[in-house]
Amino acid sequence: MKLIVLDEVDSTNTYLKQLCQEGVPYGTAVYSDNQKTGYGRRGKFWHSEKGCNISLSMALEPFEGDSLISLAVAAGVVTSLKMYLPPKANIGIKWPNDILLNGKKICGISCEKIHTDKGYVIIGIGINVNNTSFPAELTQKATSIFLETGESIDLSYIENAVRSHVRVMCHFLAGGATSQILKVVRDFCVNLGQEVSIIGEAGVIAQGIAKDIAADGGIIISKEDGSDAVYYSGEISLR
Ligand code: BTN
Repeated sequence: MKLIVLDEVDSTNTYLKQLCQEGVPYGTAVYSDNQKTGYGRRGKFWHSEKGCNISLSMALEPFEGDSLISLAVAAGVVTSLKMYLPPKANIGIKWPNDILLNGKKICGISCEKIHTDKGYVIIGIGINVNNTSFPAELTQKATSIFLETGESIDLSYIENAVRSHVRVMCHFLAGGATSQILKVVRDFCVNLGQEVSIIGEAGVIAQGIAKDIAADGGIIISKEDGSDAVYYSGEISLR
């Protein structure tokens, strides 16, 4: 699978989207050592620092069901990061696709469908690996592997591991072996059994206990009125 490595880019996602207009093969990926204006879900600015973060985008074949794609990528990322962390490291998936270490975010994942002749889903993966600090507005929420473990890691090891594990999880997805993905997600999901708020565009839409991950990747919430409801990553996030 082709990997394009750049010294600097505005956003690996934007760069890859332009390549997709030319019909690049599925699996094409873009990695940049420096990303100046990366963006996250809902268009929010994504903080990157030259030589410290992984900024990676992958162009994958579209799949019906946004929640399962997000979870497949999160499962691939968590599996690869585990390989570089101490055995008891407190790493988890915050549904649908943040990866936390000791309760703070070390990785954000975005999934965007684009409609060219071929159609793609652009996966954006940002991982804080060797950062020694963050801007003041992020310090409560964000961390890096270095800050949590005191170890710095060669970015190329992580980038390679992430690409290959994400590909494996996406093969499972394409082949209908979603139970493999769901097993990893259930094992690592930090929300299960916890009180959560369901946040839509207009604010909190429900509160309850996160009970399970549904077979289609939605999160099943036991609401305060005693009923269960399933929510999907395209519509909501959790607090
Ligand atoms: C999020 O948590 O909101 C998702 C963050 C995704 C950031 C990555 S970094 C590589 C890729 N390029 C971008 O511009 N965004 C994604």
